[in-house]
Amino acid sequence: MHLDEKIWLTLSFGMIMIFMFITGYQTFALEMGPPSNNELIDPQKVDETAPFDEPGIKQVGENEYEVVMTLQVFSFNPMDIEVPAGSTVHFILTSKDVVHGFEIAGTNVNAMVMPGHIQKITQKFDEPGKYLVLCNEYCGAGHQVMSTTITVK
Ligand code: CUA
Repeated sequence: MHLDEKIWLTLSFGMIMIFMFITGYQTFALEMGPPSNNELIDPQKVDETAPFDEPGIKQVGENEYEVVMTLQVFSFNPMDIEVPAGSTVHFILTSKDVVHGFEIAGTNVNAMVMPGHIQKITQKFDEPGKYLVLCNEYCGAGHQVMSTTITVK
């Protein structure tokens, strides 16, 4: 083997090892890995499975709310929720059919909602206003009309 080949082999193998080490360090030491929420649900039985048998908004503490929501082609249930300014809202989401998105414009909330999985995400709403909620995963012919609002007042 040529010396040049040995150098390139060593360099490329070394780079792979370095990249793998960086990724491992970020995932395990810095906890930057993707969240792995293993709460599962039978997507055929969402309507009968708690808490999704009663979708809606519920106060769970001072300035704290829980929103149990189902996503389906092409709507959110419940629609058009309202919370007081300063509220922390825990969203508990699942899909009844295909993959949908849950994005709240103007916030960092941007979640993928998959059938068979329970998605949880928390957001504090300080600024009063009407927040647009969008599905940002293509889910069929009516995807572009799949939206609702969260009113903070
Ligand atoms: Cu639901 Cu796109």
